[in-house]
Amino acid sequence: MTAPVLVVTGATGRLAEAVVELLGARGDRLLLTGRDKDRLAALERRYGVAGRVETLATDVSDPEGARLAAEEAVGRFGRLDGLVHMVGGFLAGPLFLTDTGAYERMLRDNFLSAVTATQAVLPHLAEGARLVYFSTPLADEPLPALSAYAAAKAALAAWVRSVAHEVKRSGIHANTVVMTMADTPDKRRERPGMNFDHTVTPDLVARVVAFLTSEAADGLYGSRVPVLGRFEFTSELGGGPPPGVGGPR
Ligand SMILES: NC(=O)c1ccc[n+]([C@@H]2O[C@H](COP(=O)([O-])OP(=O)(O)OC[C@H]3O[C@@H](n4cnc5c(N)ncnc54)[C@H](OP(=O)(O)O)[C@@H]3O)[C@@H](O)[C@H]2O)c1
Repeated sequence: MTAPVLVVTGATGRLAEAVVELLGARGDRLLLTGRDKDRLAALERRYGVAGRVETLATDVSDPEGARLAAEEAVGRFGRLDGLVHMVGGFLAGPLFLTDTGAYERMLRDNFLSAVTATQAVLPHLAEGARLVYFSTPLADEPLPALSAYAAAKAALAAWVRSVAHEVKRSGIHANTVVMTMADTPDKRRERPGMNFDHTVTPDLVARVVAFLTSEAADGLYGSRVPVLGRFEFTSELGGGPPPGVGGPR
């Protein structure tokens, strides 16, 4: 079978390298896109092999930029088999300090970018193609001061489920990775006191992306796959069963 060709958007982000390493090692052919030319050049130096892993500077949240990504993938590799959409943005802040511009940015980064990227790749995809998106448990169970981020990811989640029904009629698989915070060097610097037991490593996320873009996930259309590690929402009411009624000793 010919190695699949995937566009990886948001390839300049923190999680993408683990995905590029794993999918690249499997033999997938990848077009990595991002807006940050310096970071793309670094990815090119590290992973670039003509005809195998290539980069393209473009903004996929702009319909023209997204169209360019899809056409370049087909032009360079001769076909297109899917999209791993790693574009996203994060914002924390109380409602009264979050202006509508911030809401618009969150919606563009987390939701509209998925719309433009998907609209661009879809005409090139055939039966068996893969679409993978990234969300958070906060889309279903938001915490305080995350309204813009959570609302944008909730919009993405609802949108993917609708699109998944649409594209499954053509045999195309659209699924979402629902992940907790990633354990990355910058997060360790920013949050030295945090319990990293509740995070997941980029490698664990990459393995699920590899699954969702493989035949092992042939039965999944519109699934949300939780990659939560040992993350849990805590509550004052929590704490496990009372003594003597079971549970781990
Ligand atoms: N890291 C986590 O803890 C975590 C947790 C839950 C979900 N996720 C989701 O997983 C995905 C990957 O996460 P990550 O940590 O790798 O993200 P990241 O480090 O913040 O990188 C985000 C990527 O998105 C691109 N981007 C942001 N806004 C864009 C826009 N409007 N148009 C085009 N590109 C844009 C950035 O490109 P530029 O370099 O051009 O800015 C960058 O490549 C995201 O969807 C994120 O929301 C991550």
